[in-house]
Amino acid sequence: MVTLDCSLLDPTTWLVGGVLSLSALWWLSTRRPSGLPPGPGLALPVIGHLHLLSSDLRAAFRTWRRQYGDVFSLYMGGRLVVVLNGLPVIKEALVKMADVFSNRPHMFIMVRITNLKGLVSSSGALWKEQRKTALEILRDFGMGKNVLAEKIQEEVTHYIRAVEDHHGAPVDLSTLTQISVSNNICSIIFGKRFDYDDPTFIGYMRMLEENMKAIGASAIINYMPILEHLPGDLFKVKLVVSRAMKFYDFVRQQISEHRKDRSQHTEKTDFIHAYLTQGEQLAQSNVENTLDNENLQNSISDLFVAGTETTSTAIRWTLLFFLHYPKVQDKCFQEISDVIGSGRAPSMQDRPKLQYLEATIMEVLRRADIVPTAVPHGLAHDVMFRGYVIPKDAIVLPYLDSVLNDPEVWGDPDNFRPERFMGPDGKVTKPEEFIPFGIGRRVCLGESLARMELFLYLATLIQRFRFLPPGQEPLPSLEGIMGFTISPAPFKVRAIPRY
Ligand code: HEM
Repeated sequence: MVTLDCSLLDPTTWLVGGVLSLSALWWLSTRRPSGLPPGPGLALPVIGHLHLLSSDLRAAFRTWRRQYGDVFSLYMGGRLVVVLNGLPVIKEALVKMADVFSNRPHMFIMVRITNLKGLVSSSGALWKEQRKTALEILRDFGMGKNVLAEKIQEEVTHYIRAVEDHHGAPVDLSTLTQISVSNNICSIIFGKRFDYDDPTFIGYMRMLEENMKAIGASAIINYMPILEHLPGDLFKVKLVVSRAMKFYDFVRQQISEHRKDRSQHTEKTDFIHAYLTQGEQLAQSNVENTLDNENLQNSISDLFVAGTETTSTAIRWTLLFFLHYPKVQDKCFQEISDVIGSGRAPSMQDRPKLQYLEATIMEVLRRADIVPTAVPHGLAHDVMFRGYVIPKDAIVLPYLDSVLNDPEVWGDPDNFRPERFMGPDGKVTKPEEFIPFGIGRRVCLGESLARMELFLYLATLIQRFRFLPPGQEPLPSLEGIMGFTISPAPFKVRAIPRY
């Protein structure tokens, strides 16, 4: 006679059995099937290889590239991540096989915040239409042309006055720089700038800054969405999403104010009016399109976020490099003195003559490596790449750091040496490996705006001030903190007026 073993009904046994079965399931799902790119050993249940990573991915990625080659893979939670290293591999994927590699992956936080609409997190036909529309509008507003340069110069004048107000006392210029840089994008998208002491605007800027920092801690939810169901908000996901929603409220308010005075505004005075006009024209001609409110709201937020944090971080990096490498600062100042003197502000017409400054800006973008993993890419379908199988739902990271800081390419990548970008004729040379804005179809949409801003802000700052450390204490580290971007840890400088 068969008897039922009562231990099977014991809750502890059920629990242990349950945990073991779940672990087995996870193990099976995170076991690297044959054909995938190689990578670090067996993935652990639930966490995959996350235990091997710190918040700063750079050290682990460099080691794995050495061990496994230019295409390696790992599991972050249950999600397969494929890391592309070195220019030939990144170029082959993003340029040669652009039809396959130009999507964005479905990532939990992105889906929650953006619904995969707008510019940065959309894919396929929707993304193509949003990107084309945004680029056309930005070009109309003079991205890369003099009209926009004059607007930026006006903003720089306000910024310089605000720096002067500190009278050479030690100051952390982060918030001021962020607000000023974001004003350039605000002029384009909203048609107005905000005063540096506008409490509402400062509030939004702080909120976005906090989100940039918190997004590192929340990123784990992208790989283990199950954690969302834990009580409380351990990974700050709810906080990050609710801050993003508050920012959307602000953007929506700006859009509805624009909608209210549409009757008076048929001309394209700013991005919102231009986008609305384009949408109306397409609708009148019965052309199906994606130019709706949600895409407008998201595209504006994308331009604002992508255009503020990156460029202001690059300006702060430059000041920090100047503290560590005062001779570079002196050389930039000398060049500006020779070419412009002190009687007028630098303009875009001076750019071809300020070759050392140009090389310095390139060296900042290379060495600071502000967006090291680019924005994650996704795939249009399963693909065979360099002999490996990469499934459609993998996250692909074009690891820009592997190019920008590769010893094989630059020899001494850790040194800050603008001369590496100067040819024997004293003119700037741009090696193919200089890719801080990414490459391929999803290359940074704001590159020419960013280059124009960096030139005008830095040329004017260097002309007007000498940047010195606050005192005798050791200089702030050049290590950088990894969040959405790699940014310098907070630091103070003294901006001593030159004249
Ligand atoms: C120093 C400044 C900047 C750096 C280093 C930078 C870098 C990057 C990088 C690496 C990407 C990802 C490319 C990829 O996914 O393969 C990107 C995307 C993007 N950037 Fe920038 N960026 C900067 C400034 C700006 C500015 C000023 C704007 C705004 C006008 C902007 C708007 C965007 C947008 C909208 C995307 C997404 C493009 C798409 O998905 O199609 N960026 N940027």
